[in-house]
Amino acid sequence: MRALVTGGAGFIGSNLVDALLAAGAEVLVVDDLSTGRRSNLEEALARGAGLAEADIADGAGLAETVDGFGPEAIFHLAAQADVRKAIADPVFDANVNVLGTINLLEAAVRHRARVVFASTGGAIYGEGEGRELPFREDALSLPETAYGASKLSAEAYVGLYRRLYDVPGLALRFANVYGPRQDPHGEAGVVAIFSGLLQEGRPLRVFGDGEQTRDYVYVGEVVAALLAAEAVLAERGTAIEGPYNIGTGVETSVIDMARKLANAAGAEAEIEHHPARTGEVQRVAIDPEAARRDLGWEARVELTDGLASTAAALARS
Ligand SMILES: NC(=O)c1ccc[n+]([C@@H]2O[C@H](COP(=O)([O-])OP(=O)(O)OC[C@H]3O[C@@H](n4cnc5c(N)ncnc54)[C@H](O)[C@@H]3O)[C@@H](O)[C@H]2O)c1
Repeated sequence: MRALVTGGAGFIGSNLVDALLAAGAEVLVVDDLSTGRRSNLEEALARGAGLAEADIADGAGLAETVDGFGPEAIFHLAAQADVRKAIADPVFDANVNVLGTINLLEAAVRHRARVVFASTGGAIYGEGEGRELPFREDALSLPETAYGASKLSAEAYVGLYRRLYDVPGLALRFANVYGPRQDPHGEAGVVAIFSGLLQEGRPLRVFGDGEQTRDYVYVGEVVAALLAAEAVLAERGTAIEGPYNIGTGVETSVIDMARKLANAAGAEAEIEHHPARTGEVQRVAIDPEAARRDLGWEARVELTDGLASTAAALARS
């Protein structure tokens, strides 16, 4: 399979690239290295993956790169994924997340390529407090940030291109992804930030009371979901739609996660409280049942085990 991975130098993307290469795929990464790192791809490049340094918001440049490769599958993970940046500059956020996605879908039409789009379950549904949790895919989408709104909009274009141009595509709504190579500035940087602070023996900064909950899913499982989605698209084409939640359905409080992480790292968790931040929801968890039924995907890694692997990987780096 010829697979194009946008955002392939990033946290999730580089883990996906490694898995694709292991499965024998020919891989081209498109990444502007704004938050991703070439070092994440060191092994992949040595194994024959290509890297095109390109901005997905530059339509003409992207078209040339994609046409030169001729992908059968596109994994679209490149994004402006910093929630604070989205609040500060929503135009930039939409430019990358909405227009960048349209640029890619235009290329997908020319190559009849299957498209798996990395969306977000953590930011699309909005506040879970007072609502039924875990959220199913048909729950009302009430994003609290421009980032959630731009991802929701991009999902709509994936659906549009399926109906209008027969591009097989679906969106996966990731919960809070954690694991090796995570950048502290991404959407769910808290595990990476806490790991770094623990290593340095510094206190963990918790915003608000720390009782806010998230749904944490291990990066290896997210990679498995991306591969499963592509395989189902190859088999069923435009007959399968999505979106699909990729999470555990389990709520874990930030304080609880901090304690588990400290445990895994064999360190003491000293918590320092700071005022709550705007745009942060109090509770969220997403229901993975539809992905289990239609994609045959299920999260199996326990949080304590995933955190232990993450702490061990960080200690090695
Ligand atoms: N990490 C999470 O918990 C999480 C949760 C939900 C959804 N997601 C989504 O998953 C995807 C990957 O996230 P991640 O955590 O690996 O983040 P990341 O920042 O590590 O990866 C994003 C990659 O996209 C690249 N990129 C950004 N803007 C670009 C542009 N204009 N053109 C080309 N490349 C560009 C970056 O350099 C980076 O390599 C994103 O689409 C994100 O929205 C992540």
